[in-house]
Amino acid sequence: MLKNDKWWQRAVIYQIYPRSFCDGNGDGIGDLRGITGKVGYLRSLGVDAVWLSPIYLSPGVDNGYDISDYCAIDPVFGTMADFDELVSAFHNNGIKLIMDFVINHTSVEHEWFRKSRRSTDNPYRDYYIWRKGKNGGAPCNWTSVFGGSAWTKDEITGEYYFHLFTEAQPDLNWENPDVRKAIVEVGKFWAEKGVDGLRIDCANFLAKNCDFEDITENFDENLRKKFINYGPIHEYFRYLNEQLFSEYGLATIGECSRTDPNEAAMFVSPDRRELDLIFQFEHMSLEEGEHGKWNRASAPPERLIESLVKWQTSMAGRGWNSLYFDNHDQPRMVSRFGDDGKYRAESAKMLAVILMTLQGTPFIYQGTELSMRNISLKRDEMNDCEAENFLAENDVCGYYPPEEAVAIVNLKGRDNARTPMQWNGGTGAGFTVGKPWLKINPDYSDINAEAMIKDKSSVWNFYRELIAFRRSHEEVFIDGVFSRLGSPAGTFVYTRTGRDETMCVTANLTARTIETEIGHCLRPEMFNYAEPPLTGNGKALLRPYESAVWKVVDV
Ligand code: GLC
Ligand code: CA
Repeated sequence: MLKNDKWWQRAVIYQIYPRSFCDGNGDGIGDLRGITGKVGYLRSLGVDAVWLSPIYLSPGVDNGYDISDYCAIDPVFGTMADFDELVSAFHNNGIKLIMDFVINHTSVEHEWFRKSRRSTDNPYRDYYIWRKGKNGGAPCNWTSVFGGSAWTKDEITGEYYFHLFTEAQPDLNWENPDVRKAIVEVGKFWAEKGVDGLRIDCANFLAKNCDFEDITENFDENLRKKFINYGPIHEYFRYLNEQLFSEYGLATIGECSRTDPNEAAMFVSPDRRELDLIFQFEHMSLEEGEHGKWNRASAPPERLIESLVKWQTSMAGRGWNSLYFDNHDQPRMVSRFGDDGKYRAESAKMLAVILMTLQGTPFIYQGTELSMRNISLKRDEMNDCEAENFLAENDVCGYYPPEEAVAIVNLKGRDNARTPMQWNGGTGAGFTVGKPWLKINPDYSDINAEAMIKDKSSVWNFYRELIAFRRSHEEVFIDGVFSRLGSPAGTFVYTRTGRDETMCVTANLTARTIETEIGHCLRPEMFNYAEPPLTGNGKALLRPYESAVWKVVDV
């Protein structure tokens, strides 16, 4: 019997970014039938659930995170019949489905907003946040997460609407109970279609301090206090839980940036009945500088390790962790935390070992199981609205010389994650027979699913083995207590102690060979070089990015 026996605690979850996964009809854009055709692939990898980024009707300003109809499928992805077929295909293969739930904002083209903007007294006016301008400008000086003012003036009534993201994504007014009810109805619609869970976009941004006063000092820090984990946020989640999540048995994962473990526990402690999991961002934010994420720096491995340890220890017994190193908003993990050149395979496997053996639910982002890498794009090849906003702002403010800004976007930008999935070495990488909507990474002739599935020592096969290994030692990997052991900087050594067995993980996060203590009684179970690390006298010699999972025998 497991202590943590909910399906989402035992699952390995795979994230699909539909636009870039598989194109079923040759228009260059991934779609639902493309995904249905790859269910066998997901099954053979061994994942238990899929989180699908948005497939709803959308003008596509933020690639589907700007929704104009919550209950319709965007024709670019297919039809509702295609969706129903996909749900059956997943369920027939024992795979659960988690939908993206984008409820902080809609598209400007959503019917609610089209009605809302018409007059100051229409019934939908308060679905969004409208204010009069001040001194001939915006109501206050808050800025959007993607840069520029958080307010846009609408000519029809002459008032401004509030948007934390692009001006095409007006924020819903969560203070309005009708909005909360309407969102519950949307959730019910998908639950009744058989969906098993929701990933809640910008979950901790829903509540705002609607005084909208100008921020006069410590701008960034004080701005965050206005809408991150603000006031009534927990009431909103208790309401959604009661009306929707519990009612339909939906698993929930809230995207919660800038959230520390204490705040995280307020969302995910089971007795609070809010969310099941959150995505926290501490380890995604280690490199930030003066211009936020737009910074050349990379984080030393020790910082990453410390952050992982902090979350392992501080959430223990309080709430369940989610584990991830990348997603559709982040650079590729092998390029960011590993070495995507000489040690690509080794470092990708090393990160996989950590992802799959810490306590929590691991999320694999599409292509990560192939060690897909960052791409280098020219400015006119880029697609991401966040990058576009930054480059435009940089043109005006001159933070960086233009080429430097483009180089930074190539390091940190979101397009890195969104290049098409590399299925084979043929034209279009097996992703499309048409012209791909975003450039395919030219490395696809080497890095692709077909080649890796055949190669027993590939990153893909390593993921598959790790997932199976985790499953066959569920008790220790799910319930087992985490404990970090002392080891030299740049290495991460820890144990997971379960009821019946203890596992030890050794990982070298650097390109140097490092010797570390391990104790005597370890038997190698999984390792990322052809043979396990060299051991002797209670020590292991870890080659560049070498990692292993050991079973502690005879303790
Ligand atoms: C979340 C999504 C991101 C999107 C943003 C606005 O952070 O993950 O892709 O741009 O919300 O919806
Ligand atoms: Ca298509």
